[in-house]
Amino acid sequence: MLSTRMATLADLAAIQALTRARTMHQHQLDPRLPEDLVLPVWLAFVDGGATWVAENDGRMVGVLCAEPEYWYEESAFSNVFPRSYLRLRLYILPGVAEEPVAAGLMARADSWPGAGEVDGMMLLAPCRDGALGEALAAVGFAPYHTIAIQPMTWRPAAAPLDGIGIRAATRRDIGPVAGLMAESWRFHAAHQPAIRLSPCLLDGCEQQARQLGADRDDQRLLLAEQDGEVIAFFAIGLNIQQANTRPGLFMPGIYGDIFEVAVRENRRRGGVGTALFEAAWAWFAAQGTQAVFVNYAPTNPISSRFWPRLGFVDAWTNWWRDRR
Ligand SMILES: CC(C)(COP(=O)(O)OP(=O)(O)OC[C@H]1O[C@@H](n2cnc3c(N)ncnc32)[C@H](O)[C@@H]1OP(=O)(O)O)[C@@H](O)C(=O)NCCC(=O)NCCS
Repeated sequence: MLSTRMATLADLAAIQALTRARTMHQHQLDPRLPEDLVLPVWLAFVDGGATWVAENDGRMVGVLCAEPEYWYEESAFSNVFPRSYLRLRLYILPGVAEEPVAAGLMARADSWPGAGEVDGMMLLAPCRDGALGEALAAVGFAPYHTIAIQPMTWRPAAAPLDGIGIRAATRRDIGPVAGLMAESWRFHAAHQPAIRLSPCLLDGCEQQARQLGADRDDQRLLLAEQDGEVIAFFAIGLNIQQANTRPGLFMPGIYGDIFEVAVRENRRRGGVGTALFEAAWAWFAAQGTQAVFVNYAPTNPISSRFWPRLGFVDAWTNWWRDRR
């Protein structure tokens, strides 16, 4: 008989054992995942979040952890995606029917007063864990964005582009980059109902472009230009996954991170994105990165083809569900 309840500190050892069992199970599916995902559970206890457990005849079979309410307004994407949400982690004991456990635990999160007025729930799950994905879909989640990784073992061979130059951005490029970014976000929003664009989209993009173009050793803003006009950009940087930072997305090491990319609408599918990726790849290689990762919307009909074409393999998906 399945039951759910709020966890107490007395449950921590059992929670840790269950989350480890799930993580080991995920490891067999995908060896690139980090070894320990227990941190959010601890955070939920100490930092105003919540953790619920599901039990089957007294045996713990599931854990759902909600980190405290998170506002995109506090992040770099403030004006692009002004929504609040709960960040969730779900661990189900391998071998147990997933859907009833997920449904029982989600009912707890839905009625939790600590969720306040959030717009929705975001839940990170490994892509290769198909059973978990099916359970999430059954309880109303849909893929929101996917984190895909490219191991630096394969470099794309971009065809030479007539009359198009690639260079690093300067301060004068912030306006054109912001314009391209806003165009790209409108495209994203048209393919992803969870995205709500801010009325101040262009201002937000300008602020974002300024940050991405800041003169820092650990990031680059690369542009493609033709006849003096900026037609595309790739904003990239380094992402250090540390052994003592949990939860990590990938095994510890130095990774390349592709923050934002866009090609002007009337210049797409002409090889410009591939050429910019090749320039980005060369910069990453010079920094000694062991792999590159990117966030893309699986509902975006272009990027869901573009990144696999460049050797990226899906690793994690953030699933979204509107609050009920
Ligand atoms: C995604 C984007 C950066 C790709 O740049 P691009 O210059 O258009 O891409 P390329 O011409 O280099 O295409 C490389 C490959 O990607 C795939 N691809 C690109 N556009 C595609 C489309 N419209 N439909 C299907 N596949 C497509 C193809 O496999 C293509 O190779 P092919 O033309 O030999 O078949 C650009 O289209 C863009 O800005 N799109 C809108 C905003 C967006 O989606 N941003 C992505 C954020 S993750």
